[in-house]
Amino acid sequence: MASRKVLIGGGTGFIGGHLGDLLTSKGYNVLNVARMPATNNISWTKLEREGLPKRSLAVVNCAGQQFMDFTKSWTPGFKQNVQNSRVYTTKALAKAINTSNDKPKVFVVVTGVGAYEPSENATYDELSPTTGRDFFSRLTVEWEKAAHVDPPVRLVIIRSGAVIGRWGGMIKNMFLPFYLGLGGRIGSGKQYLPWIHIDDLTRLIQFSIENDAVTGVLNGVAPQVITNDDFTRSFARALKRPAFLPVPETMLNMLLHSERAMIMTKGQHVVPKRVLEYGFKYKYADIDDACKEVAHLLPKKHPLK
Ligand SMILES: NC(=O)c1ccc[n+]([C@@H]2O[C@H](COP(=O)([O-])OP(=O)(O)OC[C@H]3O[C@@H](n4cnc5c(N)ncnc54)[C@H](OP(=O)(O)O)[C@@H]3O)[C@@H](O)[C@H]2O)c1
Repeated sequence: MASRKVLIGGGTGFIGGHLGDLLTSKGYNVLNVARMPATNNISWTKLEREGLPKRSLAVVNCAGQQFMDFTKSWTPGFKQNVQNSRVYTTKALAKAINTSNDKPKVFVVVTGVGAYEPSENATYDELSPTTGRDFFSRLTVEWEKAAHVDPPVRLVIIRSGAVIGRWGGMIKNMFLPFYLGLGGRIGSGKQYLPWIHIDDLTRLIQFSIENDAVTGVLNGVAPQVITNDDFTRSFARALKRPAFLPVPETMLNMLLHSERAMIMTKGQHVVPKRVLEYGFKYKYADIDDACKEVAHLLPKKHPLK
């Protein structure tokens, strides 16, 4: 029988954990590469020493130090950690694939729409150039370069927008202020906010693993283009709360450092052209549906368990 083993770098995190749950529910065997030992985990050192586990069907990288960790200052050391945790983990997985005699079919790497320079006028599809001018764009260029694997292994790079899910990313950070009626748009609210629901991102990864035609860069965003103001209204409506307290851009720049704050204060108009061409069907194509799904204070029963 063909192997159903999938190795997930950062499989303990928000995206990686969801992906592991989805793939397990579909009959795959999931193994994580993580820094802490656990039943389904192997360490990065073991990966480097012993190479890719035998009979791996696919390898996915979802590892990366969270840069929106507000307890950490934006120091050169922290920036280095943000960078290394993405570039070195991707390099380690790519090397394990390239040196293996028992190659997987596909390597999927989740990067970000930060690859594209923030702009109010440009529209970015997967063929648009990445400029590498700001910190996140420069980081993504290097991160994606690290993903190089030799054919016949397919490489799929998913540039994800802000992931909408109750227990991670943007929603986890914003839930309490919005729930308390203290939410509001960021700055003018006119900046684009490329987004995707966690279920769609993990389904897109599964789609990339299972469809041999899928290769190259995919914009992991919903087809509906919204602004920060649209999101603010939608999330507040879903929670049945007001959201009248705008967060001034200058305050975020001061508290977080403008280089990091730009992830919220600026945005890109990103479209999933290739994703749609491949025929991927979104479960959450409308931000109102996505926001309704995450507008609950307490944990719901996991849909896959
Ligand atoms: N969430 C979003 O909205 C979003 C949007 C676009 C792109 N992304 C990208 O998707 C990836 C995963 O995001 P997430 O939201 O799932 O983050 P998360 O919940 O913080 O999970 C991050 C994962 O990375 C691992 N990790 C953290 N620091 C590491 C380090 N220094 N070295 C090696 N591994 C490290 C952690 O594993 P261990 O601690 O178990 O080792 C954890 O499993 C990140 O690269 C992020 O940039 C996320």
